[in-house]
Order: sequence, then C-alpha cells, then structure tokens
Amino acid sequence: MRRADNEMKMVFLSLSENESLARLAVGGFISPLNPRIDELNELKTAVSEAVTNCIVHAYRDGIGKIEMTARLYGSEVYIKIKDGGCGIEDIKKAMEPLYTTLPGEERSGLGFSVMESFTDSVNVKSRPGAGTAVIMTKKIRGKR
Ligand SMILES: Nc1ncnc2c1ncn2[C@@H]1O[C@H](COP(=O)(O)OP(=O)(O)OP(=O)(O)O)[C@@H](O)[C@H]1O
Ligand SMILES: [Mg+2]
Repeated sequence: MRRADNEMKMVFLSLSENESLARLAVGGFISPLNPRIDELNELKTAVSEAVTNCIVHAYRDGIGKIEMTARLYGSEVYIKIKDGGCGIEDIKKAMEPLYTTLPGEERSGLGFSVMESFTDSVNVKSRPGAGTAVIMTKKIRGKR
C-alpha cells in the first residue's frame, strides 16, 4: 500500500452527539488541502451518513465503538468508518437506493446513495455478527 502523506485515527462511542465530532474532525483533517465549501460539505455529509448508520443500525440495541481512520494521499482523501456491530447480510441489497431495514418516518434508505454521490468511491466490507467497514475516497480539487 502507498505511504500516506498524513493519517489520523479516532475511536468514539456510538452516541448521536459524536456525529458532529466526526464531521469536525474530518473537516479539520482535510483543511490543509484548502477544500472548496461544497467539497467540504459533501465529505462531511458522507461521513455523517456512515456514522449515523453505525449508531442506528450496527449498534441498534446499545452503544458500541466506532473507529474512524482518515488518510491523505496527495489530494485524495481516504476515510474508513468501522463498527463492531450487527453487520450486513446482503451488502448489495443494503446499498440499493431506498432500501432500509428501519422503515418509518426517520429513515429513507438513502444513506449509501448520498455517500456514493458525494464521494468518488464507496466500498463496504461486512460480516454478520462481527461488524462493518465503509471505505470512501474523494479527490479534493480545492480553491484556486
Ligand atoms: N454500519 C451498519 N451496520 C449494520 N447495518 C447497516 C450499516 N449501515 C447500513 N446498514 C444497513 O443498510 C441499510 C441501508 O443503509 P442506508 O444508510 O442507505 O439507509 P438507512 O440508514 O436505512 O436510511 P437513511 O440513511 O436514509 O436514514 C440500512 O437500513 C441497514 O439495514
Ligand atoms: Mg443511513
């Protein structure tokens, strides 16, 4: 694997207040790339979706740990959000637009679609009963 130009890792509990912590941390981490506001908001929103999924799905019956790793490779950002929760049985199905296992007023099944449209790649690894890792990459063009 290529050597990263910068790297950080943080672990936090699956509490909803930590969603903004994750957003802030990612924003701070990529600030040396001088991102445009839209790029910054897109990446933060993608991170929020992944973290929310850990909170509401992975650890639906309690509280667990979420690990976020971020790396820079030149102007490309790599982000991994990993949980040790319930896992996903069928990843392909879970990533389909509008698919949700929590139908109701709050969830619309669009989290993965948002992650995909706001980043350059989304990769999901999961093992039922063991947990899930969502890996996203995004090239930051920055202000000129
Ligand atoms: N970290 C995770 N652990 C376990 N299951 C997950 C995880 N992330 C996603 N899922 C599963 O994938 C489905 C689709 O996720 P997605 O984020 O697209 O939609 P949603 O969370 O159901 O709704 P929305 O994101 O629109 O509020 C979820 O309903 C859930 O079953
Ligand atoms: Mg979601």
